[in-house]
Parts: sequence; C-alpha cells; structure tokens
Amino acid sequence: MDKEVLNIVDRRTGAAYDLPFFKGAIRAMDLRQIKTGPEDFGVMTYDPAFLNTASCQSAITFIDGDKGILRYRGYPVEQLAENCTFLEVAYLLLNGELPTEAELKEWVESITRHTMLHETSKKFLEGFRYNAHPMGMFISTVAALSTVYPEARHVLDPEVRRLQIRRLIGKVPTIAAYTYRHSLGFPYVYPDNDLSYAENFMNMLWKMVEPKYTANPVLARALDILFILHADHEQNCSTNAMRAVGSSQADPFLSTSAACAALSGPLHGGANEEVLKMLDVIGSKDKIPAYIDKVKAGEFKLMGFGHRVYKNYDPRARIIKWAAESVFEVTGRNAKLDIALELERIALEDDYFVKRKLYPNVDFYSGIIYQAMGFKPEMFTVLFAIPRTVGWLAQWQEMLCDAEQKIARPRQVYTGYEARDVVPMEKRGLTATSTTA
Ligand code: ACO
Repeated sequence: MDKEVLNIVDRRTGAAYDLPFFKGAIRAMDLRQIKTGPEDFGVMTYDPAFLNTASCQSAITFIDGDKGILRYRGYPVEQLAENCTFLEVAYLLLNGELPTEAELKEWVESITRHTMLHETSKKFLEGFRYNAHPMGMFISTVAALSTVYPEARHVLDPEVRRLQIRRLIGKVPTIAAYTYRHSLGFPYVYPDNDLSYAENFMNMLWKMVEPKYTANPVLARALDILFILHADHEQNCSTNAMRAVGSSQADPFLSTSAACAALSGPLHGGANEEVLKMLDVIGSKDKIPAYIDKVKAGEFKLMGFGHRVYKNYDPRARIIKWAAESVFEVTGRNAKLDIALELERIALEDDYFVKRKLYPNVDFYSGIIYQAMGFKPEMFTVLFAIPRTVGWLAQWQEMLCDAEQKIARPRQVYTGYEARDVVPMEKRGLTATSTTA
C-alpha cells in the first residue's frame, strides 16, 4: 500500500480518493475530482490570507519560523551579514550562488553603471508637493521608469530581464535619495561611481557643498548589513504582490511598484515608521505598563511585534540589535533604545505575548538605528524597499521561469445574491422588505 498518499472519504457520496503528497503538500487541483455528480464543480480550498497555502515552489529563501531560522539560498543570514556585502548577497539571491571575484567585479560595475536617473525622472519628482510622503514618491517614480524603458515589457526575454534587473537595483537608491532631498528642498546629488552601494546612497542623501563625500565607514557597513537583512523574506505580502502582478506579464518596473505599495502598509514594511511613532507616544519607561495594558485590551497593536511566520525571535531583529551598538558608538545612543529594550523585556515576560508567541520583528529596532543615522521616520519604509527590490526581482524571475506558473487568479466562495432582475428606476426603493413593512 502506497503510504505517500492522503486518503479522503467523501461522506456525501461514500467515495474514497487517494491524493498523492507533493513535497509534503497536497495539490489543491487534486481536490477538484471530489464531486457529488457530473454537474458539481468539485471541492475547493478556502484560505483567506493564505494561512496554509503554498502559492509557488521557491529555491531562494528558507524560513523556519518556530526555530527563528532565515537562510538565503541555504546560507544563514547571520553568516552573510558578517562576511558579505549587500551586492554579493544580491548576486546570490538572483543567481543561486555567491559570486567569484571576477563575477562580483562585473556585477558591481554593471550595477554602478545604472545608478543615474533619466533627467525626465528628476523632473517627474519635481511635481510632488514639498510635504509628499517619500514612499508615495518612491512608488510612483519606480512605476514611471516603465515609460522610460518601454522595452522592459518583453519580460519573457532573458536578456531584457537581465538589463531591467540591473537598472532597478542601480536606480532604487537614487530614487530614494531624491525623494529625501525633495522633501527637504535640497538639490539632487548625482551618483558617485567611486563609492560602494551604501556609500553612494549616503552621498546622494547627505552631500552638501563639499567636493567629495566621505561616508563614515561604520555607518556605511551598518547600512549595508541592514540591506542584507532586508533583501528577501520568501512569500510575504509585497513579494506575493510582485509575483501576482508579474504573473500578468506586466513589466518589472510596474510590478516592483506594486510590491512597494504592498510594503508601505503599517502591517508590513510601514511598521518601522509606526514603531518610532509608538515610542514617541509612550515617551518614557514608566509609561510602558499602561501602554501594554491598552494593547492587551485590544485598543491597538504593539508595532514591531508579531509575525505571520516567526513564532520565535526574528533572527534579523537580533542582528539589528547588535548592529545598533556600533552605530551608537558613532552617532551617540538613541534615547528611544532604552524604551524599546524595556518594552521588549516587559512584553516577553507577559502572558499575553508569550501565549501568542509574539516576539520583536525586524521593524522593532531598525527604525531606532535609522533615526540615529539621521533619517526621518517617513524614510524608513523607503530604506526597506531599496534592498527588498532585489528579493522581489529574484522571486519575479523565478516565477517567470517556472513552467507551472500561470496568471495568478484565486477562486472565491461567492456569498452574494442569486440571479435577480433589474428593477426600473421608478420602482427602486420599493423593495420587497420596504413594501411589506
Ligand atoms: N500586538 C498585539 N497583539 C498582536 C500583535 C501585536 N503586534 N500581533 C498579533 N497580535 C495578536 C492578535 O491580536 C491575535 O490575537 P487573538 O488570537 O487574541 O485574536 C494573535 O496575536 C495572532 O495574531 P494575528 O493577527 O492572527 O497574526 P497575523 O499572522 O495575521 O499577523 C502581523 C501578523 C500582521 C505581523 C501582526 O503580528 C501585526 O499586526 N504586528 C504589528 C505590525 C508589524 O510589526 N508588522 C511588521 C511585520 S514584519 C514585516 O512585515 C516586515
């Protein structure tokens, strides 16, 4: 008897079915054979918010949420953060292997060649109000690149894909920096190709009148590590958006823009901005217990806590906490860290959080570092979007090369009216209920 099957008996008909396991899962389409008769559509699964549905096979990122493990292409994220640069990790995510020295040289040079924005994109940014949210500007400008590179729509051509991937990774720091300069009313700074990816980003953000910008090496390395930690996270909300929009064969600029939009929400990448606002509201350590009581009463959530997949400490939060120390040696300690540490301590001892396995996630500490570096909270999600662009593109490429993937189109369980006839205007309002009332 084959043990690698799931045996299902349909009590409605008495029929039995053997559904083969596929890599530990059941193919939802195998359920469709379970019918009460030829007219029956067959059994579907109902899974709002994808709590238990794998939408793809992926070889990019592995998470074990119970053990707090995160690996890119098999490498623990801790080792990558310690030993690699962000562009090395980007290469790994996209190509499956770490680059050799020669491959890395070619890769870095080609990304560096694509850092400039077309002047029309700069003018496009000029159209935003002085107080526009940087994330709104970022999302729109990434989408607008679609008009600058119309050939990007040929998504099935590997050479076209290769070029757009390099363009996007090269340009997202430039767009991000320009949204920041725009919000301050400062002139834009052109990329400096002598600098590393993180240093050049800092140059475009903070260069003023000095002829050459010199980045603080500790801060540049910390930023690079933060980029590594945010580079991919398997099928999260924004990656799912990237895959769903990309599955219609929209070009990568538009798909990335859709993914950015998903990232911007406070339950996802927007949480880092919300954490800082929350720490401001709490204000001091003695106010934490009262704040936690309100969280437990369901008034609001503790931002930067909880995760769909991690039911243990988010490994990224652990590394960020460690990186914070080196940043604070340069910038001085962010006073919010003490409130955050105490908040974490109290929450992790509280039954409410323990029972629900709610731990700090990546966003809990990242904002505190970003603020110490000089960023306004409105920039935090943009800082997340820069490295995550790599993950989105790796997942998009994998999706397009996967013979099993088609346009993403979920089913629904319809709960509306049965068929009914249109009532002429003069008779509307005289519904059965109101007439009988
Ligand atoms: N504060 C208080 N209670 C929480 C929190 C929180 N941050 N997160 C979850 N809970 C509670 C829920 O109310 C629920 O309680 P119940 O069982 O009594 O109803 C229980 O824990 C389970 O939570 P769900 O909402 O079902 O978990 P889900 O997987 O749907 O949500 C999410 C995950 C969105 C991250 C959630 O934990 C949350 O909103 N956290 C705050 C926002 C945040 O930090 N987001 C960043 C996530 S990391 C990232 O996207 C990069």
